[in-house]
Amino acid sequence: MGLYWVPVPGVVICALMIVGVSSHPDYREALSKSIAFFEGQRSGKLPANQRITWRFDTGLFDGSPENVDLIGGYYDAGDNIKFGLPMAFTTTMLAWSVIEYGKQMSDELHNAREAIRWGTDYLLKASSRLPDAFYVQVGDPEADHNCWQRPEDIDTPQKVYKVTQEFPGSEVAGETAAALAAASIVFKHVDPQYSKTLLETAEKAFAFGNNYKGNYSEFLTSAVCPYYCSYSGFDDELQWGAAWLFRATGISSYLHYVQYKYDGSSDSDTFSWDNKFIGTRLLLSRFNLVEKVEDIDGLLEAKDFVCNLLPESPSLATLYTPGGLMYKMNGSNLQYVTSTAFVFITFAKYMKHANKTFQCGELLVTPTLLKEHAKKQVDYILGDNPQGMSYMVGFGKKFPQRIHHRGSSLPSLKQKSEPFGCKDGFNSYFSEEPNPNILTGAIVGGPDQYDNFADDRDNYAQSEPATYINAPLVGTLAYLASRYES
Ligand SMILES: *[C@@H]1O[C@H](CO)[C@@H](O)[C@H](O)[C@H]1NC(C)=O
Ligand SMILES: *[C@@H]1O[C@H](CO)[C@@H](O)[C@H](O)[C@H]1NC(C)=O
Ligand SMILES: *[C@@H]1O[C@H](CO)[C@@H](O)[C@H](O)[C@H]1NC(C)=O
Repeated sequence: MGLYWVPVPGVVICALMIVGVSSHPDYREALSKSIAFFEGQRSGKLPANQRITWRFDTGLFDGSPENVDLIGGYYDAGDNIKFGLPMAFTTTMLAWSVIEYGKQMSDELHNAREAIRWGTDYLLKASSRLPDAFYVQVGDPEADHNCWQRPEDIDTPQKVYKVTQEFPGSEVAGETAAALAAASIVFKHVDPQYSKTLLETAEKAFAFGNNYKGNYSEFLTSAVCPYYCSYSGFDDELQWGAAWLFRATGISSYLHYVQYKYDGSSDSDTFSWDNKFIGTRLLLSRFNLVEKVEDIDGLLEAKDFVCNLLPESPSLATLYTPGGLMYKMNGSNLQYVTSTAFVFITFAKYMKHANKTFQCGELLVTPTLLKEHAKKQVDYILGDNPQGMSYMVGFGKKFPQRIHHRGSSLPSLKQKSEPFGCKDGFNSYFSEEPNPNILTGAIVGGPDQYDNFADDRDNYAQSEPATYINAPLVGTLAYLASRYES
């Protein structure tokens, strides 16, 4: 779609012109920006080629209270905490994006691999004491959320949190196994030694999660809840970890683990840092439809999910906004949109490979139908919506200006070298001014169920970016960029 300002004597008319099939956002630009965003979320010692240049080194003593090196990794969203569960999920989805769509990334493939490596380097450090302990978080969220300061200024205690055999955390161990196993596939040919380390550590993380079962929130309580409490329990992460380990190793006991656990229920209609049931189902589809592994019904696995979500489906069980955006939750809704779009195009890819279609009641579901639906959702995010704005920062003419993100909202070290104390940033937080630093490529939580967007820092449900909103979009954008080359 194209948005044109047509000057008419005395008035200006904003005309929305649908210019045939060739009209679409610049997916390649969006792809490039969606990956650059991860550099803005980096913690640790930043390299000389860092592209988001208003960010500087942070957390260079992370892990020191436990005498372990936990330097690096990603801040999850607009705060200055390194949460293990969403970081691992983000890394898994970046790796899956490269596994499926790396060939379509062209110049960006290198940057995408670097984004994965920034996550896996940290996850390896977090795993360095296995099987005794696994480090799941750096930073006390209560202390952090009381303050509004740049990550470079942190003077709240950087507490370190771990799970052990006695106080286990199978969800975070299982997701880390998934991330490391998926990444081992990405690096298999480009860095075989690294790939081997990733895979060996993935197996250790999985064994730890599976041998010592428990919910990390039971022991870590307010350090992880309500932020990243695993509401779906840990079975989904253990199955997902096993499914990725099967994909990476071909060892059939991992597949049997997934199949044995699978109870045939359709589980859920969301895919997120918390709930990975559909992710596992989709991988099973791949094993059957693409890799021809028998004893799996390749369509059954993800069919119900699709039938609950496709707007044309007779069993639709999902809200859409009047402007056509899938609407799951009031908080950070776009995370569900980007993860679902990834499921749709990837299921379509597998179906096409095996020349399969299926029915949702009367509706014939083809790969093309799934891809068109995913494209519409992505186009909405990139500007084809009632507000005429892009929800990707730095993309298009109109985009969010007051994102809920500490580093973006405060003058950088270049503008103001003195540190912000804990409360010093709140003047900026409550100001109407646009953020001084552009967090290029960040996708925010997005509009409400009536397509309205507040562009207000205090409305974090709508204005906060997060690594797991972007990660699945990276793959989808690579597919769209190659399909709709400008
Ligand atoms: C873990 O949490 C889930 C969801 O809250 C619950 O169903 C399950 O019983 C818990 N498991 C254990 C071992 O505590
Ligand atoms: C979002 O919030 C509104 C107002 O509180 C509520 O009516 C609506 O049901 C919520 N929507 C979802 C999807 O949770
Ligand atoms: C694909 O499936 C359709 C319908 O089942 C069939 O008519 C067609 O011949 C198949 N195409 C290929 C290339 O196998």
